[in-house]
Order: sequence, then structure tokens, then C-alpha cells
Amino acid sequence: MVSRVIPVDPFDLVIFGGTGDLARRKILPGLYRRYLDGQMPGEACIIGVARGDMDTDGYRAFVETSVREFVAKKWCDAKILKAFIERISFVQLDATGDQGWDELKAATKPDRVQAFYFSVGPSLFGPIAERLHTHEIAGPDARIVVEKPFGHDEASARALNETLARHFAEHQIYRIDHYLGKETVQNLMALRFGNMLFEPLWNAQYVDHIQITVAETVGVEGRGSYYDKSGAMRDMVQNHLMQLLCLTAMEPPSKFEPNAVRDEKLKIIRALDQVEPGDMVRGQYRGNDEVASYLEDAETDASMTESFIAMKLHISNWRWNGTPFYLRTGKRLRGRVSEIVVRFKEPPHSIFEEDTGQTANELSIRLQPNEGMDLKVTIKEPGPGGMRLIDVPLDMTFADALGEEAAEAPDAYERLIMDVIRGNQTLFMRGDEVEAAWAWTDPIIAGWEKRADKPKLYDAFSTGPEEALMLLHKDGRRWREIR
Ligand code: BG6
Repeated sequence: MVSRVIPVDPFDLVIFGGTGDLARRKILPGLYRRYLDGQMPGEACIIGVARGDMDTDGYRAFVETSVREFVAKKWCDAKILKAFIERISFVQLDATGDQGWDELKAATKPDRVQAFYFSVGPSLFGPIAERLHTHEIAGPDARIVVEKPFGHDEASARALNETLARHFAEHQIYRIDHYLGKETVQNLMALRFGNMLFEPLWNAQYVDHIQITVAETVGVEGRGSYYDKSGAMRDMVQNHLMQLLCLTAMEPPSKFEPNAVRDEKLKIIRALDQVEPGDMVRGQYRGNDEVASYLEDAETDASMTESFIAMKLHISNWRWNGTPFYLRTGKRLRGRVSEIVVRFKEPPHSIFEEDTGQTANELSIRLQPNEGMDLKVTIKEPGPGGMRLIDVPLDMTFADALGEEAAEAPDAYERLIMDVIRGNQTLFMRGDEVEAAWAWTDPIIAGWEKRADKPKLYDAFSTGPEEALMLLHKDGRRWREIR
């Protein structure tokens, strides 16, 4: 790993839900990588908290297993791993009762940066925040990290904001959307605001439309009971796709700092028009010989929940008036692709013959996999035979341009946890932003519930329902292929 980092100040990180899936897969392996990279200082302490019967030795063994499972072998250095594990302890605690809180108090130091990571179900956010306060565990430099789902509609998000605000100030609350920690998402801001090339063209005058796709090959296996209450709209659009949309569409903030960025994102959410029923397609995957259908995964005979959604959005402001944004996301699709595609307009007049095949420029920003961007430009086809035009990509795959190691970006969670310790909220959602995103989402969901719209079925590992293709075809456009 190439070390280009400055160590953060010593901190105590308390992980509620310390033995949960997120801790095992993301938080603990991520912390190890930051330790290995020299960013997590030797004096830092990680305190795992859970209700189950365990002690520090047992938890250290759990952490070691997680690291070995989720960190590439080449980074698992036995000596460093041992030193990392020594930074770890465990407190058994009942989040809704009084047991364990005194032990937790004894284990943390209120005179240093304290981060309390709520990697638990949302019903525990309030009780934990309250007890951290009443047991006087949280010091002046304490901050809390809250995982999604942050509410399931505007009212519940507002109630949750109010509960947290009783015990912590807004600058202490870090609402995670892990998409904001993805390297290429941050790169989107570098691309837009660190270059002169694109920004002058980044508006309705020059952009024909924008596509945002987050396609997954996985189904909802194992998460059926959560997912069936949520669906693609609540699970992905209200948060991750909304964030991508905001960063793509927002005005340049005056500074790359938390409130300047979040103010601009909020303006975009508030400028979103409601979506007409005809501008939206919801789908549910079928099963085949190899994989179960959505209904089987969700363990229900009948469900109206969508595992796929595609929609056409309009942003009512000067910059984007007339440029549609097409969003789609779904499970069990043909490929795992997350990308933002900016399709520019065709030149106003072609000086070449009609049939030259000239097309428009297209900038695509690949979030995953194969992070990078490419810009489709039109050139003359080499060779004799007249002036024939073809499209070629100016491809910038980060791994090619920067080398495999430099391009090996930290996982989103690593970056975000270090930002919590540094006290930088730029890549976290502010309370009003989350509420505004729900305020836009709620009437759309209420609309399809009232109409009792049934999701359209689509084949597993396809590109989604036919109707989603039509959404663009009827506008004379087409989706980028999901490969
Ligand atoms: C989560 C959703 O927030 O994001 C999951 O709940 C989804 O349903 C996941 O699979 C996608 O994240 P990533 O980083 O794999 O694109």
C-alpha cells in the first residue's frame, strides 16, 4: 500500500453492533487498512460493543478473522495485525437497558476524540444517543455515526433528527451514505470543479441528457425481510442515487467545505419536480434454474415491492431546464455497473455529408468496477475513402493512468471513518438534506401505492423490464448498455 497519509489524532472509536455484518465486512477490515497505512495512530482504541456474551479475547479473535477474510492476503502482515488487535477491546452492553454502560464509560476517554458508530438497527439510534448522554459518556469532542436507513419517510427522518438533536449538535452527527466515500464520486467533484474543460458545457444548453445507473447482479437473498419493506426506491434512490444526482447537477460551491457543499446539494433536491407515473418503471426479477425469483427471496407469495426502478427526472432551475436525468437501479441485472453518463448535444450543424455517422460526445464516469472515465469523441476514420467519421473513446482507467497501487483506492468506509475522526462532514448528509430527499420520495411512493401499481417482471440477469428501455426510446434516446 502506498502511504501518502497524515496520521489522525488519537481517538476512541466505539462500534455499537461490533459483531454485526457491517463491522465484520467493512468497518474492522477498513480500520486495519488505515492502521497498516499509518493513518490510524498507535494510541487509538477501538471498542466493540454488542449484547452477546463475549470478552475482549473473544472479540479480538473475531476481529482477526474478519481482517483475514476481508483484507487481501498481501496486506495481512502478522506483526502489524497483532499490534492492531492490541488496540481493541470489548464491552458487553444492553442498548435499551442499563447494563454495561458504566464499563463503556470506563473504557473511553472523554478528553479525546470519541466516535460512536451506530452500526445497529434504526430503532436503537435514539436509545443509544440518550444513554451516551445520561451516562455522561460523550465528551465535548464526541461525534456519532449513523448508518442508513435514516428513516423510512420524511416524518420518521424528522423524528429521528429531533431525537438525535436532543443529545448531539448537528456538527456532531455523521449520517453515512457510503456512496459519498467512493473514490470516483469524489472524483466527480474534482472533474467538475478542478478543470476548466467541462463546467462551461455542463448545462442544458450543451447537455442532451444524463443517465445514472447503479446495476447489481446480486439478488436480495438473505435480506428479503428488510428489503421487501423498502424496495429500490427507499434502499437506493432516496440516498445513493440522489447523492450522485446532486453531485452531478449542483452549482459550484464556493469552497469544498461541509456546509457550502451541502447547501448546493440541498438546492438540487428542492428543485426536483415530482415524477409523472408515465416517467417511471418499477420491476421485480423472475427466477430461473440457477437463482430464485424476487418473491422466493423475499419469502412471500405476493409483493408489490420493486427490485428495479427507472425514472426520468427534471430539475427546475436555470442550469438544467429541459435536460432530463434518467436514473435506474436494480438487483439481478446483467452486470455490476455504477456509472454516470453525460450525453452532450450534437453539433448544431454538420459540415460533413449526411451519412457520416457523426454522433454526440459522451462522458462516462465509472464508479465501479474498473474506476475511471471515458469521453467519446468523433474523429475521422483513418485511411482513404473520403471523410468518414467514427467515435473513439478517450479512455482514462485510473489503474492504467496512475498504476495499480496508486489507483487502489481505500474502501468508502475507510475514508469516511477517517473523516469522522478528522471532524470533516463534507461527505456526510446533513439533517435537512435527508428530510428533503424523503419529502421528494414520499409522494412518489404514495402515488404508486394509491394506484396499486404492480411491478413489471424482468428476467434475472437481463437489463430490467422492457418498459424501462421504452422510457428512453420514446424520447428518441437509449440507455448505455449494462455489460
Ligand atoms: C446498500 C444497499 O446501501 O448499498 C444494498 O442497502 C446495495 O441493497 C448496496 O446492494 C450497494 O453498495 P455497493 O457499494 O456494493 O454499490
